[in-house]
Amino acid sequence: MQNSRKITDDLYYVGASDRKLALFENIYPIPRGTSYNSYLLLDEKTVLLDTADAAVSEQFFENVEGVLADRKLDYLIVNHMEPDHCALIQNLVLRHPELTVVTTAKAAVMIRQFFNFDLDSRLQTVAEGGTLCTGRHTFTFVLAPMVHWPEVMFTYDTTDKILFSADAFGTFGALNGNIYADEVNFDRDWLDDARRYFINIVGKYGTQVQNVLKKAAAIDIQMICPLHGPIWRQDLGYFIGKYDTWSKYAPEEKGVLIVYASVYGHTAAAAEKMASLLAEHGVKGIAMYDASHTHVSQLVSEAFRYSHIVLASSTYNCDIFTPMENFLTDLKAHNWQRRSVAIIENGSWGPMSGKLMRALLEQMKEINILGENVTLKSALKDEQLPALEALANAIIADMAQ
Ligand code: FEO
Repeated sequence: MQNSRKITDDLYYVGASDRKLALFENIYPIPRGTSYNSYLLLDEKTVLLDTADAAVSEQFFENVEGVLADRKLDYLIVNHMEPDHCALIQNLVLRHPELTVVTTAKAAVMIRQFFNFDLDSRLQTVAEGGTLCTGRHTFTFVLAPMVHWPEVMFTYDTTDKILFSADAFGTFGALNGNIYADEVNFDRDWLDDARRYFINIVGKYGTQVQNVLKKAAAIDIQMICPLHGPIWRQDLGYFIGKYDTWSKYAPEEKGVLIVYASVYGHTAAAAEKMASLLAEHGVKGIAMYDASHTHVSQLVSEAFRYSHIVLASSTYNCDIFTPMENFLTDLKAHNWQRRSVAIIENGSWGPMSGKLMRALLEQMKEINILGENVTLKSALKDEQLPALEALANAIIADMAQ
């Protein structure tokens, strides 16, 4: 049964959602599933914008064929060649051998790498500012390298002022009937997944995202159709603003993220005490996570969200306890920067984790390490409370700036 949705008089949503997949890109947990969006325009020529993941192949083709009815498919525009959107290109070409593939030269290279069909006889490459007229609609193309792969482009429908934004402005989460962001409580139910999606997928490429946001600012956009998650037709500035904040590595909220990695619970107890000290001094917006029990994609996302971070880690094998080391390595990989950090270390006979965490942080950009490391030797003692309070005060003073 086809399950397409009409967006405008001639534009249809032909994507589908997947709630079976446990790990997006085989790494990121997606308990709310994901959608693979695809769009089909019935102009004088017919135009499909991207395909979908192989997991939703059956629904996708039922949607495409259902909307096309007896018409042939004239164009496939390929905005992005990651397999969650390109997996069905060869299958589509087998069904519609007459179609023309419209994409960037870089994407064409990837199509040849992934597939075996004859691309060259049906290829139309486009560059920045190139156009495609399909009857009533004229598309123009905006290159968006590294948002999220080097071949990515956005497609802008100059007629209806719709931006097909590839991965940008996407989010984890299956669509639950409502396909528009204004039909759901996005801030309450979607923002955390949108942040985790952005930070982990393209967080490393803030400069490139800023470049494409500048290009987008020069375009009159009435609707954003991303490749994942809801379509934006209202309050676009809200979500564009989030992308601006995240890609500038600016904190989204003034608050304190406390992440601890604790073998037997003593380091965790010190982190809990730090949270209480901060709260007693009036700090609100405190989030705390056990790195051993929280997926690192969530920790990285939260680190982008908050202005101040407390890292508390045991020493393990004369090194940083593995879950914390993994978190810090992932932060560095995502180009995390522009934050203030306080450090608590623990080690029963040779505490090393503080020194090593500091060394890792010093490899990142614009990280302000607050005060002195607080060093525990097994468990927090009464005589160490002043040191912990001094560290809490350093955080509070820095937050006040
Ligand atoms: Fe949703 Fe970069 O693919």
